[in-house]
Amino acid sequence: MPHAAGLFISFEGIDGAGKSTHIEAVAQAFESQGRSVTRTREPGGTPLAETLRQLVLNEPMDALTESLLVFAARRDHIQGVIAPALAQGRVVLCDRFTDATFAYQGAGRGFDLGVLQTLEQWVQSRSDKSQALLQPQLTIWFDLPPHVAAARLSGARVPDKFESQPLAFFEAVAGGYATRCAQDPQRFARINADQSPEAVREHVMAALRAKGFLRGAPGA
Ligand code: TYD
Repeated sequence: MPHAAGLFISFEGIDGAGKSTHIEAVAQAFESQGRSVTRTREPGGTPLAETLRQLVLNEPMDALTESLLVFAARRDHIQGVIAPALAQGRVVLCDRFTDATFAYQGAGRGFDLGVLQTLEQWVQSRSDKSQALLQPQLTIWFDLPPHVAAARLSGARVPDKFESQPLAFFEAVAGGYATRCAQDPQRFARINADQSPEAVREHVMAALRAKGFLRGAPGA
């Protein structure tokens, strides 16, 4: 029997926007409709990429080095996990993908967007080169004012290199997400994350139904 087409969905937002809780709910929703789900994250998802993650999140480095490492991790992750899972018809739920690089390294750290675009082309080109770049079919963007995210994060745990950045950094990162969303509005579902977890969850599920990815009436 032919299997369902693979589905690639990424989840984005500034630190503290509350992605993780909702990714779990989305995984359960797909599984309850009989889909096989691969939950993964960036940087990370393979042994090599998880090693790179530790470096990126904990070691000081310039923005080019950081960008090269996140794209190297992404390449390994695509080759080792994402592409094979999609080929098997699985639903891939990825906690961050390339939009995070444009938001954090590009907008946040002010790194050259042209270089990031070149890296994106290299890393996300498909092996037969005939098709468009590998991109998520849908990106759920949890949009939250940075001061609200900061209040949620404070005291929660020991902050990593990015989480300990000042508010102005996250204002810039949030602007980076808004720019990526404006450049590719069909791919993005912007969710107002400044609501109760229940309300956010409902909006996420509605976005998945509206795309026809989850069964059920679009507005239900
Ligand atoms: P995050 O996804 O928030 O994981 P956790 O919930 O465990 O903190 O952490 C990943 C961090 O890495 C986050 O601060 C954003 C950063 N990051 C980049 O700077 N560039 C990237 O390309 C990616 C994927 C993440």
